[in-house]
Amino acid sequence: MHERIRHEGMLQKRMSAGEAAALIRPGMTVAMSGFTGAGYPKAVPEALAAQMEAAHAAGEDFKIKVLTGASTAPELDGVLARADGMELRLPYMSDPALRKRINDGELDYMDIHLSHVAQHTWFGFYGDVDVAVVEVVGILEDGRLIPSSSVGNNKTWLDMAGKVILEVNSRQPAAMEGMHDVYYGTALPPNRKPVPILTPSDRIGEPYLRVDPEKVVAVIETDAPDRLSGFSAPDEASKAIAGHLLEFLDHEIRRGRLTDRLLPLQSGVGNIANAVLAGLAEGGYKGLTAYTEVIQDGMLHLIKDGTIGFASATSFSLSEAGVEEFTENVDYYRERILLRTQEISNHPEVVRRLGCIALNGMIEADIYGNVNSTHVAGTSVMNGIGGSGDFARNGFLSVFMSPSVAKGGRISAIVPMASHVDHTEHDTMVLVTEQGIADLRGLAPKQRARTIIANCAHPSYRPALTDYFDRALRDSYGKHTPHLLGEALSWHERFVQTGDMRPAS
Ligand code: COA
Repeated sequence: MHERIRHEGMLQKRMSAGEAAALIRPGMTVAMSGFTGAGYPKAVPEALAAQMEAAHAAGEDFKIKVLTGASTAPELDGVLARADGMELRLPYMSDPALRKRINDGELDYMDIHLSHVAQHTWFGFYGDVDVAVVEVVGILEDGRLIPSSSVGNNKTWLDMAGKVILEVNSRQPAAMEGMHDVYYGTALPPNRKPVPILTPSDRIGEPYLRVDPEKVVAVIETDAPDRLSGFSAPDEASKAIAGHLLEFLDHEIRRGRLTDRLLPLQSGVGNIANAVLAGLAEGGYKGLTAYTEVIQDGMLHLIKDGTIGFASATSFSLSEAGVEEFTENVDYYRERILLRTQEISNHPEVVRRLGCIALNGMIEADIYGNVNSTHVAGTSVMNGIGGSGDFARNGFLSVFMSPSVAKGGRISAIVPMASHVDHTEHDTMVLVTEQGIADLRGLAPKQRARTIIANCAHPSYRPALTDYFDRALRDSYGKHTPHLLGEALSWHERFVQTGDMRPAS
């Protein structure tokens, strides 16, 4: 009996990645596993990219539409982007080669709330899914699948796709078996039932993914690690942001709005979020919970030292050292970590019921608290909205964080008007920069503007923001949310023209 492929029929379907990739034809919609650099297929995309390049060299057009859970890795997004093999990609991405092609206008990118992707597929909004390519840890005797280091949209891809290609990755720790919770209780409106999660540790599904063995057309064996995600050590600005946030949480505890157990934490991606996790470890908290998307090394440390007692997510995203730590202490972590499908890890109903504390990074915020998480100068996409909207709209607290300046001070993260809006003023409660914290709860627009400028803007931009706001108060068409419409985006325009938001002195 094969150790990882225990289903006789699927064992017979083993083939090379090249043979499997040849089943994918131009124009198809291909749904792939993968969430934040974890659990993505390692072999088929590369073989497919080679076939696309050969087709292009022969003068043939070969592009596909690619659906994933979230960002993947150079072995998927990178190779397909470089092969000019994608006509459409959704949702969240972070690969530099893919980002460049998107911003060069060479392929279409649909940035979608991560909780929406599965249900929009069920609703038929994206048309048929021709092929699913899904990495798994193993296949059971009865054909059920042991999910890999991310669950993401895999349940949906396996259910909806006409054909399924499985990559069985023996490098992924077999010890992950049993840590997943795949919920099969979702239905379409009007037949939906409440999602029965009352605490982050509630199990509501089963540890395996189901697949119709008849649909499985290929099984590929791989042995490659997930992309290793490293974070830079927190810099001074990140540490200051984490410090302000921890002070704010202490303040909320003193005011009786939170207990010292806080509420389930959602921590976004990126360097700032990572610094906040590191800060929490020093905050003296014990027995916290997380209802979030990704378990990074930082989260593993917090679970190890008891700061976090339980974490629910949809994906691991561990470095090599993190995988080692996890594998060595798997029995400890198994009791404390659960990976769910992303429509459940990010479910608005559950996020609101649990009262998550949503902690996310941002590109910029305007003086009224509209937040841009995704676009530089309103036109060039950075990564995508990810799950930030799922949590910010529905959380008990929605916090957005950023250094007050970027690119050596040439860009202000606090601007007169956001050049793109992902989270409206109605969804943002607290802004944090290394300068301080703006608690916007209970404030009307003009009060918000004064607070944001005074507490969050960098001193080198504060006078210009104050000047803008004062003149807007005097000259704006309406005085509820005062703006000078002809000038509101002039800082971005100046940046595009000169590489600097500051006026030439
Ligand atoms: N204008 C231009 N570039 C900016 C900028 C701005 N206002 N603010 C940040 N950046 C750049 C930084 O300079 C840095 O660029 P570099 O990679 O060339 O150094 C990059 O954006 C990352 O910024 P950093 O300050 O290191 O923060 P981060 O790693 O925390 O990332 C976001 C910030 C907004 C890009 C990131 O949080 C994100 O993608 N958020 C959206 C998705 C999300 O919130 N997901 C959470 C749930 S999954």
